[in-house]
Amino acid sequence: MRLLVTGAAGFIGSTYVRLVGGEHDVVVLDKLTYAGRRENLPEGTQLIEGAIEDPAAVREAMQGADAVVNFAAESHVDRSIDDQEAFARTHVVGTGTLLDAARELGVERYLQVSTDEVYGSIESGSFTETSPLDPSSPYSATKAAGDLLVSAHFHTYGLDASIVRGSNNYGPRQYPEKLIPLMVLNALHGDSLPVYGDGRQVRNWLYVEDFCRGIHTVLAKGRAGEAYNVGGPDECENVEVVKRVIELVGADESLIEYVSDRPGHDRRYSLSSAKLKEELGWEAQVHFAEGLERTVEWYRENEEWWGPIRSGEYREYYEKQYGKSLG
Ligand code: NAD
Ligand code: DAU
Repeated sequence: MRLLVTGAAGFIGSTYVRLVGGEHDVVVLDKLTYAGRRENLPEGTQLIEGAIEDPAAVREAMQGADAVVNFAAESHVDRSIDDQEAFARTHVVGTGTLLDAARELGVERYLQVSTDEVYGSIESGSFTETSPLDPSSPYSATKAAGDLLVSAHFHTYGLDASIVRGSNNYGPRQYPEKLIPLMVLNALHGDSLPVYGDGRQVRNWLYVEDFCRGIHTVLAKGRAGEAYNVGGPDECENVEVVKRVIELVGADESLIEYVSDRPGHDRRYSLSSAKLKEELGWEAQVHFAEGLERTVEWYRENEEWWGPIRSGEYREYYEKQYGKSLG
């Protein structure tokens, strides 16, 4: 199969390409934003530099594709609170541009990579695919809009399209703005560890390779017009995540600093993956304890990956977001 994979120079898409690249002919379309890095892709991967909201770039990249998997996104909630414009452009205009091209070029299958955040926050129990969409942040609101456009293209034009909604991913090559890599790198450098609010928010952690296996399962076997949740096997409060990182790095808990809460902060995410397990046979393979250990080890051993990031754009972002410099 010839696959167009968008946004694959980022964290999850590059893991996906590593997983399926041997078995399929892959073309990547990526805008190379601050989060997209050519080096994330396996050597020899065909990369077209361009935006999913650019119809010409999309048509060039989609020529001859049998299927499209759309990872391209602005992925950080805090940045969306600061300025939502790029989020709307990529998630809404970009998704619509991909869908139009897929229909016009007769692509056989379209898969949208989405997030549990479209359901909003849940106090107890877990979201299923029939839970109402109730997003809280500009990030999740624009992702939900993208999902609705996918459903509209299935209903209106009969496009063979499905949606996967993943919970919080972690693992190698995640940009250090996200909770786990931020805490690992700060702990390794002796920088303070900024925990938002009371730190008792809960996230449902999913090792990135498990998510990518779930995505590929839905691409191959998922029903058109359907969404599938891909949730991690474990839930954990943020402050507990930070304490586990401290222990693995061998740092001190005195580094923890409680800082102002994120505006509109969702308290808890939890996904039921029963549909994916029962219909398509997917199961998460990596528990949080093991995945976190692997992740910390990877960051310890790959300074050549994070060194240039930590001394570039990310430094400025960090100062603006946290009001202090990295050491
Ligand atoms: P990331 O920020 O690491 O990577 C995003 C990639 O998309 C980058 O390579 C970037 O250059 C590219 N991109 C951004 N805007 C683009 C545009 N307009 N056109 C083309 N390329 C563009 O993000 P990630 O964490 O790998 O997330 C990938 C997808 O998975 C996103 O759709 C995200 O919403 C979804 N998701 C992420 C998580 C998570 O925990 N990180 C969980 C569930 C779902
Ligand atoms: O749930 C899936 C989503 O997970 C994805 O759709 C998003 O792309 C991805 O960024 C992630 O969103 P979160 O907002 O949950 O992830 P983040 O790593 O930003 O934050 C995780 C939790 O940690 C959240 O409750 C906020 C908190 N946090 C985060 C940072 C960066 C802190 O307490 N301190 C921090 O410095």
